[in-house]
Amino acid sequence: MVSSEAAPLAKTGGLADVVGSLPPALRALGDEAAVCIPRYGSIALKGLRRVYDALPVYLGVDRYDTAIYQAPEEYPFYLLDCPPLFDRAGFYGESGLDYPDNHIRFAVFCRGALAAARYLFRTEILHCHDWQSGLVPAYLRTTFSLDPTFVGVKTLFTIHNLGYQGLFPKTILPEAALDPALFQPNGLEFFGSVSYIKSGIALADALNTVSPTYAREIQTPEFGFGLDGILRARAGVLTGILNGVDYREWSPETDPYIPARYSAADLSGKRVCKEELLAEFGLPAAPVGRPLLGIVSRFTRQKGADLLMEAIRDILAQDVYLVALGNGDPEYEEAFLALAGSFPDRVRVRVGFDEALAHRIEAGADMFLMPSHYEPCGLNQIYSLRYGTVPVVRATGGLDDTIEEGTGFKFTEYSGAALLGAVLEAVRTFSNEPVWRDMMRRGMARDFSWKTSAAAYSALYRDLLTRP
Ligand code: ADP
Ligand code: GLC
Repeated sequence: MVSSEAAPLAKTGGLADVVGSLPPALRALGDEAAVCIPRYGSIALKGLRRVYDALPVYLGVDRYDTAIYQAPEEYPFYLLDCPPLFDRAGFYGESGLDYPDNHIRFAVFCRGALAAARYLFRTEILHCHDWQSGLVPAYLRTTFSLDPTFVGVKTLFTIHNLGYQGLFPKTILPEAALDPALFQPNGLEFFGSVSYIKSGIALADALNTVSPTYAREIQTPEFGFGLDGILRARAGVLTGILNGVDYREWSPETDPYIPARYSAADLSGKRVCKEELLAEFGLPAAPVGRPLLGIVSRFTRQKGADLLMEAIRDILAQDVYLVALGNGDPEYEEAFLALAGSFPDRVRVRVGFDEALAHRIEAGADMFLMPSHYEPCGLNQIYSLRYGTVPVVRATGGLDDTIEEGTGFKFTEYSGAALLGAVLEAVRTFSNEPVWRDMMRRGMARDFSWKTSAAAYSALYRDLLTRP
């Protein structure tokens, strides 16, 4: 697997959770899987084993000196090291700005990952994730088309988010050593620019995305980000496979980050988690009987931050409380902080990325809000189910596929009014304790472990290998 993120070493979102937990699930089924990510500055060399020394990557005449390290995970976990490109404060950029050489960084990364497949982990399938690995199929079809190492090797490209495309001006073609013949509408050309995600979409042997509903949605102009045409053209090789989750990391029975552990049979610990969460955020303890809404999210429009801002004043008229953790667009970070400023007794916000706090919010909140504009799969609503934290979601993508009447509250129209309606219904239901408890327990009993989905990937790999 070629990916820009994999938990536990490099994570900004759900991509990391998926790429960190699918390989062990595949191995449990008898498949061998390895992962390659960049060795970012945040990943200390200490604890890693250098497994391939001098590995020069040539992009045209430019040479990048790389090496490969291996992390002590239960499966081969490789890190491509190239300090001038990756030893930086961010993964993709800093202070809201993308690094100007991302086209080089992820071209070198793709070439380095191919080297790992050549020298360290002979592979039959290169499973690529999102735009950062989109050039793998391009290089295989051009630079390495006659290379015996890669004869018969197939590629699968997984779309985790169509909204991030890796778009660069045409002038980068030689810098990334891309064959000019690829620059066409059935290749990586996108309205006159080079699109790394389109490279993956157009050139991989098979495609999938992370929920059945999102697989349909991205074939429409509304959700296609301009790529719906090529996705429709490739519909025959495009499937939707719902993400699984790793319950070893996300279960209230065993979670080391939460102050009290609990289960569906004994929910008493959840109340402790709620009290402690209120205290941690400096909210009054008195409202422990009132609904506490939780948010853990990238603060972006994708996640419905705008909808929330539209509806929040009416929501707060209900004597409910809100704790939110997130970071992202400066505009929404400010909006969240301003909201907390206006309602200090009701709303508390933490801007930043904090894995442990994310767990404590999952455990301590009563309801979890995900009013996403679009959501390829979404993991937090699935974690919420397991923690007995009832999700309130917009019926889109994976949210629609994972939440049903009886386990959560859904609304369809993308409007503040529709979100408000769903929250009001949730608040009404909350006041009926036995009904609410049933709902929590139904959610806690739902099983989204990798078993089914890993088997679906495994079957897809096998099917790919039989194709000419
Ligand atoms: P996306 O990948 O679109 O951000 P997902 O719901 O698939 O959304 O996954 C988000 C993952 O990132 C979850 O594991 C969530 O807990 C985590 N996460 C998101 N924002 C934060 C944050 N600010 N601090 C800690 N974890 C976060
Ligand atoms: C993306 C999507 C999210 C999905 C995650 C993992 O970041 O936004 O919906 O769950 O990838 O596939």
